[in-house]
Order: sequence, then C-alpha cells, then structure tokens
Amino acid sequence: MTNELKGKVNYSVNSNIAILEVDNPPVNPLSSGVRAGLAEFIEKANSDESVKGVILTGAGRSFIAGADISEFGKSFDGPDLNTALRAIEFSKKPVLAAINGTALGGGLETALVCNYRMGTNKAIVGLPEVNLGLLPGAGGTQRLPRLVGPSQSLKMMLSGTPLSAKKALEQGILDAISENSLIDDAIAFLQDKIDLSDHPKVRDKNEKLLEARGSENVLAEAKALAAKTRRGQFAPGQIIACVEAAINEDDFDVGLKKESDYFLECLMNPQREAMIHIFFGERAASKIADIPKDTPLMPINTAGIVGSGTMGGGIAMNLANAGIPVLILDQDEENLERGMGVIEKNYQMMVDRGRMSQDQKDIVMGLITPTLSYDDLADVDMVVEAVYENLELKEEIFKTLDSVTKDSAILASNTSGLDIDALAASTNRPGKVVGTHFFSPANVMRLLEVVRGKDSSDETMATVMSLGKKIGKAAVVSLNAPGFIGNRMLAGYTYQANMLLLEGALPSQVDNALESFGMSMGPFRMLDLVGLDLGWRARKLANIETPLANKISDELCERDRFGQKNSKGFYNYSEGSRAPNPAPENEEIYKEISTKNNIQRREISDQEIVDRCILALVNEGARILEEGVAQRSGDMDIVYINGYGFPIWRGGPMFYANQLGLEEIIKKMDIFSDLDKEFWKPAPLLQKLADQSATFGEAPAVEDRAELLSFKVTNMGGV
Ligand code: 3HC
Repeated sequence: MTNELKGKVNYSVNSNIAILEVDNPPVNPLSSGVRAGLAEFIEKANSDESVKGVILTGAGRSFIAGADISEFGKSFDGPDLNTALRAIEFSKKPVLAAINGTALGGGLETALVCNYRMGTNKAIVGLPEVNLGLLPGAGGTQRLPRLVGPSQSLKMMLSGTPLSAKKALEQGILDAISENSLIDDAIAFLQDKIDLSDHPKVRDKNEKLLEARGSENVLAEAKALAAKTRRGQFAPGQIIACVEAAINEDDFDVGLKKESDYFLECLMNPQREAMIHIFFGERAASKIADIPKDTPLMPINTAGIVGSGTMGGGIAMNLANAGIPVLILDQDEENLERGMGVIEKNYQMMVDRGRMSQDQKDIVMGLITPTLSYDDLADVDMVVEAVYENLELKEEIFKTLDSVTKDSAILASNTSGLDIDALAASTNRPGKVVGTHFFSPANVMRLLEVVRGKDSSDETMATVMSLGKKIGKAAVVSLNAPGFIGNRMLAGYTYQANMLLLEGALPSQVDNALESFGMSMGPFRMLDLVGLDLGWRARKLANIETPLANKISDELCERDRFGQKNSKGFYNYSEGSRAPNPAPENEEIYKEISTKNNIQRREISDQEIVDRCILALVNEGARILEEGVAQRSGDMDIVYINGYGFPIWRGGPMFYANQLGLEEIIKKMDIFSDLDKEFWKPAPLLQKLADQSATFGEAPAVEDRAELLSFKVTNMGGV
C-alpha cells in the first residue's frame, strides 16, 4: 500500500479467524487506504489455508462512518468502493461484520455484503446519504429492502434516521447482539458456521421483494413521504426509483447497475455539493478559530433554567433529553405548574406518535424538577435564564444568580438580542457569562446561537459549544452585536418583503415565490404566525412613527388584524386552523397605503421577489462576516438552514451567493439600487470579493479581521 492513501486496515489472525480492523480515526470512513486494505486483506485471508473465516470490525468508537465524504466531487486514489465490497461479498471464506459502533451509509453497506452481522448493544446502523443529497450507492438500495422489506427500507433511506442495535436485530439487519466481548462473541459465532457448505448472501434473499411486486402502495407511500418531508430535494426520487428496481428486476446486478447510474446523477446534481457543504459547515461552525482545541471543558452535570415559559420549558427538555438533570425555576407557582404541564404534554405527544416510549418519558420527566427558590440553584453547573426580553429584569436575575450559584457555574442568557456584556457587568464573573439564543420551539429547532461577550472565557465558550453538540444543536458562535447573526440578516429580508407589498405584490405572491425557491414558510405567513401586533405595540409604546416598510402591517393592526392569534392578518384563518386563506378585503388597504406614500404599484415578477429578499440576506451576511460577528460565511448558512427555514439543498444564503457568482450578485443589486440606493449599496467585502472573482469562502480569516472585530464589540449601538 502506498503512503499517500488515507486510512488503513489492520490485519491479525486469532486462532483460525482473520480479523480486519478498519483504522481511520476518528470515525473510520472508507477512505482510499481503507478500500485498498479491505481488498488486499480479504485476498490475503482467502489465500491463507489456515484461515477459515473473517471478521471485519472498526478501531475506536465507530465501525465505519460511510464513504469518505471529502472525496465526493474530486478524483480519488485507490480502488473504488464497489471493487472492495465485491471482494468481501465473493470471499471464499465466511465474513462476519462485528459492528462496534456506528455503521452508517457505506459502513452499513459494507456490513450488508458480509455473510453475518453482529453488533454491540451500542451499535447504530443507518443509511443517511439522503442528508448529503445522495443515495446509498454501494448496494444499500438493493440489499436493505431484501432484509427489512421495501417499505421499511424506504422509511430508513428517506428519513436518514439510524436504528439502535435492538431495533436492527428486530428488523433482521443484525443476526445477533454481543453482550460481552464483541470479538470473542464474533469468533464463537463464526466458529459455529465455519463448517457450513454455504453462507447466506443478502443479494439472494428475494422473498420480501417478491411480496411487494405488483403493488403500487409501497412506492406511492414513499413518494408521499418524500413530498412531505423532503420538498425540493432530488435524491429522494432517485432512492425510490432504486427500490422500484429492486422490487421489479429479477437480476440483482441489473438493480445494482441502476443504483449506480442514479447515484451518479445525484453526485452530479448541485444539491449534493450544497448539502455536503452543510455537513462540513456544521462541524466547522462548532470550532472557534482563536480558542485552542484542547481548552479544558467544565463538566455540565446539572443545570438550572430561570423561566418556565415556552422557551424555558423547551430548553429544559433539550437538557433532560441529553440526560442532564434540570431545575426549572419560576417566581410564580401557577406559571411553574403551567410550564411543567406543557413539558409533560409535549413529551406525551412524542409518546403518542411513537417517537418515545412511556419509560423514556418517565425518565426525562424525572430529570426535570420545578422550584420556586433560587437557593435550589446553589450547586448547578450552569443556569440558562429564559425570561422575557427586558434588560433590567435580566440584570436583576443575573445579580441574584451570581450570588446564589457556586463560583464556577456558567450563567447564560437566552436573549435574542440584548447586550450580553451588560448582563456580564451585573455579575462578578463576566468570564462565565455567555448568550445562548435558542430558537422557538426550543425542543424542536436545531439552531443555537452562542453569543460571545467581550469577557466570555475560552473555557466558557468551549464548554457551551460542546454542550450544544451534546444536546443535538447546530451551535454557531456570534459576537455580541445587535441582532447577533440570524435576526440581523432577517431584518433586511422582511424589509424587502414589506417593500414588495407596497410596490404592488400581494402577500401570497411573495410567499409563494419564496416557498417555491424552497423557504419553508414565506415571510407574510411567518409574520402572521409571530403576530403583527408586536412591532405595532412596541412602536406605540415608544411613540415611534411607523417606518415606511411597516405602514401596511401597522394599518392592519389598526383594523384589528393581528395575525393567526385572532384569525386575521395578511391572511384569514378558519377557527382552529393554521392554513392561510386569501384576504381580498386587505387589497384596498395595500392600494391606499401605496398611493398615500406616492408609490406606483406595478407587476412584480417572482424572480424579483426572490432576488430582493435573498440578496438582502447575502449583503447583510457580507457585513456580518466583514465585522467578524460571524467567524466564517458557512456559519451563516448553518444559521439560516437551522433557524429560518432556508432550504438545505441550496446550501444556505452565502453558499447560494457563491454558486450564483458574487459578480452576478453585484449586477443584480446594481439594478435594484434604482429603487433604493442606500439599501442596495454592496457591503465592501462583497464588492472586494466580487472584484477578485472570489467567493465568501476566500474572505480573510477571522484573525485578519481583528481590527474590525474589536471595533464592532465596542460599538453596540449601530447596525
Ligand atoms: N467522511 C469523511 N469525514 C467524516 C465522515 C465521513 N463519512 N464522517 C465524519 N467525518 C469527520 C467529520 O467531518 C469530523 O471531522 P473534523 O473533526 O475535522 O471536524 C470527524 O469526522 C468527526 O465527526 P463528528 O464530529 O461528526 O463526530 P461525531 O462523533 O459527532 O459523529 C458520526 C460521528 C455519527 C459518524 C457523524 O460523523 C456522521 O454522521 N458522519 C457521516 C455519516 C454519513 O453520512 N455517512 C454516509 C456517507 S456517504 C456514503 O456512505 C455513500 C455511500 O453510500 C456510497
């Protein structure tokens, strides 16, 4: 094997069994050296007379995490995966996959070419390729349906969700679970089979496919599932087509060939690049450029939450789901009871939908303890304050927390925009203060903005980022600047949506255009959901004149149209339903307000709607990047996909801009500048990168933006 190949396979012989151990830390993807090693050592085991069987396992915590994702779209070294897998499948000696951890994608596909599969009780198996814009391209679409049936295999491949060892055993993916030493158990299992004249191959199991042949139900159900959960994505249709081939083709290899053709189409599709950008982007976002990798983490074994409202309850659920005991505090007994009731109801819903067992519910509920007393928080490792947005109130709470909790406790605020440094200043431990901006509903939304104050210590930041990962969030660091990352970008997006309404578009046109682009919800449906009256009331209270862009929504509020909460806003809603119906009675209001403000209403194309709203995100994103508020452009993509319903298959707004070309973005903005010169002034960084025909990925590294960075931190006033 040459040195340039990545990863390796270790070979040893234990009595008469050859053991092939995939060794490519940290998670053993099937990189070039692994593929070469598998092919070479299967051959070696086959040619060694004394070897009677082969065990394939992984070093460390993973069995095999799939194909090496970093190779996609590039030329690669070594044998291809299917060559290596063919060597295993047609091995003269029986092969057992001893699954010691995660077997995902190509990892499970490798196990499926083995004759037998045994897992530890920690093993996890799945085909998550769909999350990367791909399909299982190493035989998974042909072999998994043969084991679990086409319907179940389609559910696994379309959701990408892996199964536990127990479920995998029930489904027939595993033949056995090892309760003791995996390798010892695997050797014993294989010794039992060695003398058999024939060893099972998944490719030969046709019963479950033949049962499905001739019935359209399975495929129709899968198509409905894909339409509901994977709108706009290319790979799901390809996966269904592969399973259709598995059901209908008599010859296994014909199905395999079709899979390989459909895989290639996914590989060439731009969605694949966008989704892989997000896979690596999420991992990059979890790292903080100027904080050493080996920064010690504080153990977070217990936590407190202040505020038992929607956010507090959702955050408590996140922590409990990760096994962390939580004390949830409210000053008002009634609120606390209501809050605990909502948590219980949310969990019950999960039980009713089969997403959680009653036992699991009892365990997590047992981890959440209500309290009315701050003194109970004395020993917790971290507190997340989640009361309503009022700086004075939060400062008071931070003062109290500072006095009641142990000195080492981290104090976090779930604020969506207040100054973290002001909160830190109300304590004697500014290094331990940080922002944790969860998104509503916190138990569902994956985004977590971790807001770095000027004094937040390395240890605090590293600990909170690691906690974010533990509770399953996509955590992104933002500097402590107004609006942080997401809401600051959102401001320009909704501004443009509102201006389009004044200029002649209708809410349904704007929403439909953006939803066809892939946004999960158009801006006016979103505004109706949030409530139009929030901004209107705040402006009234502060005696602020309504800005031009808000004139229509404020007028709707004047006419008692607040959004979904009172069944009328930009749309009308029937009692108890969230489905928007047109509100033709509003159209006169739109016209009236346009006229009053000397705006000539005109036909507006869907393309203009998409361009104006999305480019507003891009231009503000460029400023955020330039100021160092976000570390890298990919971080903003993670924010928008996980918190604001941006389609993952477009890779986020900044990736989308790169794909379109920054020069093209500038050209489009130049046309819009006739409408609003100030708004459409390109951010200097955007202009600079466009002039160099570069992409956002080529923006200067965060340390080279240090000057701008410190400028921003001390200038909390003005975006
Ligand atoms: N290829 C290349 N690198 C991978 C990888 C893969 N399949 N899986 C993980 N990595 C890298 C990560 O980028 C990360 O690198 P970094 O340290 O430089 O940031 C490192 O391995 C550790 O990964 P995580 O931080 O994600 O580690 P976790 O322990 O949290 O999670 C995991 C482990 C569950 C295995 C998770 O990494 C994962 O889900 N990996 C991807 C699994 C997958 O999608 N497999 C399918 C690949 S496509 C395929 O197989 C096609 C085939 O059908 C032909």
